[in-house]
Amino acid sequence: MTLEVVVLAAGQGSRMRSALPKVLHPIAGKSMLGHVLDLAKAIASNKTHVVIGHGAEQVKQTIADTAIQWALQSEQKGTGHAVAQALPAISDQAQVLILYGDVPLITAETLMQLITINTEKAAAEQLALLTVELANPAGYGRIVRNSDNRVVAIVEHKEASVEQLKINEVNTGIMCVSATALKRWLPALSANNVQGEYYLTDIIAMAVNDGIAINVAKADEPMEVQGANTRLQLEQLERFYQRRYAEQLMLAGASLADASRIDVRGSLITGSDVFIDINCVFEGEVIIGDGVRIGPNCHITNSNIASKAEIKANSVLEGAVVGEDCSIGPFARLRPGTVLAADVKIGNFVETKKANIGIGSKVSHLSYIGDAEIGCNVNVGAGTITCNYDGVNKYKTTLADDVFVGSNTALVAPVTVGKAATIGAGSVITGNIAEGELAVARGKQRNISGWQRPKKLARD
Ligand code: UD1
Ligand code: CA
Repeated sequence: MTLEVVVLAAGQGSRMRSALPKVLHPIAGKSMLGHVLDLAKAIASNKTHVVIGHGAEQVKQTIADTAIQWALQSEQKGTGHAVAQALPAISDQAQVLILYGDVPLITAETLMQLITINTEKAAAEQLALLTVELANPAGYGRIVRNSDNRVVAIVEHKEASVEQLKINEVNTGIMCVSATALKRWLPALSANNVQGEYYLTDIIAMAVNDGIAINVAKADEPMEVQGANTRLQLEQLERFYQRRYAEQLMLAGASLADASRIDVRGSLITGSDVFIDINCVFEGEVIIGDGVRIGPNCHITNSNIASKAEIKANSVLEGAVVGEDCSIGPFARLRPGTVLAADVKIGNFVETKKANIGIGSKVSHLSYIGDAEIGCNVNVGAGTITCNYDGVNKYKTTLADDVFVGSNTALVAPVTVGKAATIGAGSVITGNIAEGELAVARGKQRNISGWQRPKKLARD
């Protein structure tokens, strides 16, 4: 079977009150349209068409995917008209799945259910419709069934009779239709209705008229088929998404202090017996090994944390690799290119960037370590700074194994410190130090005896 997906994304979304086209508003850090396009990939769409109108250029540029077939609907004349814009590029052999750029949380499983009812029936032309039962169906197209319980039409809310308004089963808009049938029905739509629009939903009655049975799949979870027209609805979708993600993490063996206070904007893979305290945000691709503990208020982006490491409260990690049994924070900031071997300790108010730090080394307090190669069992004293930047270029600092750096040392790069060398506190190190040497580079202490403190001046 050839499956082609058409995503409707031309609407303005004026109720968002935003300069950003509606479908580009994010859920979990990714545009709603991005979520829908990921689904199209997940269900192996052979070709994906996106119908754009409002903010068309911005949508195209943001998505920037050359595999997408864009169709322009310059005037929004209804959902049927929108699908018609994609029709010329759709192959006659295709089953066409219609999705919506502002309905981002549908799952691949639900879509596969819809697609497979068609393949199971294996008739030449088919139409499968996804419906949902809503306690409050106001605003939605109602599913009209005959006495045999077969779907015969969809009636839009604005066109519905008092009796039809009582129907709780509604149209999600999502359907899967044979291309040949679409090509026959869409040109025959009329805009002779309350809204003066070409309703895609009118093809249901056309199918019935052509003797084509309407196959129906029902979505169990209304939030899956919920669209976002306002920022309030966007927030509801976001919370639903996050709750669903948190549940998956817990089922996979992670304990969350509060499932409503974790946000994942990307992918988070956790091992077993991971504990995540409240208010943590994960972005991009984050992988966390077995037994890792993450303290409260951590923000972790594109990082890999090996088993039994502990990330203490208020730490920020971005593009970092943390080895087994490391202890990070509280209040640590690991920036891109930080690679920590096992048993490394990074303490409070320490910032690292492009830093390779070997097994068992410690940077415990108030330091900046950037463009650095640090061996094993190195102790970097409080307040040590790698002066890696001369205002134009960046230079490297190398500390071999077993080095001891006294507190408040400035390592003016490029500089290399040999194995087991020692640096006296308060030093400004501008030259290399050989293995085992002690370097002290600070003003000599002078003690002045009999010195008098200044006296308070008499005021006139
Ligand atoms: C539509 C359905 C309704 C269903 C509801 C589910 C029709 C006629 N009605 O109603 O049965 O219950 O969705 O949410 O299909 N769009 C375009 N171009 C257009 C018109 C719409 O791209 O010319 C896009 C919109 O951006 C939106 C989607 O299609 O993403 C749905 O359009 P909308 O006008 O919101 O349809 P509803 O009136 O909600
Ligand atoms: Ca709508």
